[in-house]
Amino acid sequence: MADKDPVRVGILFSETGVTSTIGLSQLQGALLGIEEINEAGGIDGRELVAVRYDPQSQPARYADLAERLIVQDGVNVIFGCYMSSSRKAVIPVVEKWNKLLFYPTLYEGFEYSGNVIYTGAAPNQNSVQLAEFMTANFGARVYLIGSDYIYPYESNRIMGELVLQRPGSEKLAERYMALDATEKDYAAVIADIRNKRPDFIFSTVVGESTAALYRAYAEAGFDPKTMPIASLTTSEAEISQMARGVAAGHYTSAPYFQSIQSDANRRCLTRLRQHFGDGSVPNLCWESSYFQMHIFANALRQSDDEGIARLLPHILGSEFDAPQGRVKIDPTNHHTCLYPRIGRVNVDGQFTIVRQATRSVYPDPYLVTHSLGDWTAKLDTLPV
Ligand code: ACM
Repeated sequence: MADKDPVRVGILFSETGVTSTIGLSQLQGALLGIEEINEAGGIDGRELVAVRYDPQSQPARYADLAERLIVQDGVNVIFGCYMSSSRKAVIPVVEKWNKLLFYPTLYEGFEYSGNVIYTGAAPNQNSVQLAEFMTANFGARVYLIGSDYIYPYESNRIMGELVLQRPGSEKLAERYMALDATEKDYAAVIADIRNKRPDFIFSTVVGESTAALYRAYAEAGFDPKTMPIASLTTSEAEISQMARGVAAGHYTSAPYFQSIQSDANRRCLTRLRQHFGDGSVPNLCWESSYFQMHIFANALRQSDDEGIARLLPHILGSEFDAPQGRVKIDPTNHHTCLYPRIGRVNVDGQFTIVRQATRSVYPDPYLVTHSLGDWTAKLDTLPV
C-alpha cells in the first residue's frame, strides 16, 4: 500500500471528559474497522489513515476540531460525536464545507442533515420498544431523570408522550442533573423517588455520572424487581464503572449488546480483543462506530472518490453484516435500519436479552408512526 496515496479520515471521539468511557469505546470501534479494512488491502490498495483529535467532551472543541480536520488536514469524512450537543456543534461545520459526518450514537431524532449519516437508533427503534416493555411489565407511572442538555430533554419528552398513551399513566417528575453530577448530587432526587414510588425510572443520564445514579439507587435500598431504572444510554461501558452487581436487574433498550449470540458478533469480539486486549468495553455505540467504518469503506471502493457527491449514492441504501444483524442505510432519511432489543443487566454487568426484533426496523426519526407495541411495523425484508 506504500506507493498509493492514503485515505485520511477524521476521528472525533472524546478520550477525556464526562463521556470518555463511551467515547473511547467508539474510538476503538472506528480503529478496529480501519485495521480490518487495511489488513484486507485498504481501499483498492490505499491505506485508511485516522487523523484523530480528542474533543474532551466539549461541544465547542468538537466544532473547532471539525473545522481543523477539514481545513488544515484536508479530510472529507469525519467519524465522531456522542452527545447530541457535540453533533449539533459539528453539523454547521460539515454543512458549510459540504463534508460528511458519520454519527454512531442513539439520539433524540427529529433531525435530518444531508451531510450526516446516522447509524445509532432513532426513537422508534429504542424508546418505543422500551415504553411498551416497561409499561406492560411494571406500570405506567414514570419518573424521568436526565443529564442537563438537549438529548435528555427531547428523549424524556418522547418517553413521556409514549407512556402517557397507557391507561393509568402519570409523569411523576422530570429532573435534570449536571453532566458531572456525583452521588451526593442525586440525594434530593432519591428522596423524591422514595416519596413518589414510580413504577419505573427512565434515565437519560449519560457518561460518567451514570454510575453515581445507579450507586445512589442501590444504596437507597430500592428494588429493581419492583421499580427498575430503564435507559437507552446505560450500556456495558457505563456499567463497567460500577461495582459488581450495582446495575443488576435494570433495563436498557439498544440494537446491540455484547451478549448477542451470533457468529458475526463472536468473531468481531475476538478480533477486538486481539487488537485492543481485554480492557475494551464493547457496547451499542462501539458497534455503530465499527460497522459505519465498513459502510464508508465499501462505498469508497465503489465511488473511488471521497467527495460527498460521488460517495453518498454508494452509502445510501448500502447494507452490512454488522454484529447486531444485517443493517442498511435508509436512502431517504440517512438513518439506519436496526434491530431493537431489550436487555436486563445481570450480575456480571452483561445484558440478558429479554426481547428482540426478528427483523430490522426502519428508522422513523420524526416518529411519524409511533404506536406502542410497534416491534414489527415498517419491517425491512431481511431476516436477522
Ligand atoms: C446523545 O446525546 N445522543 C446520547
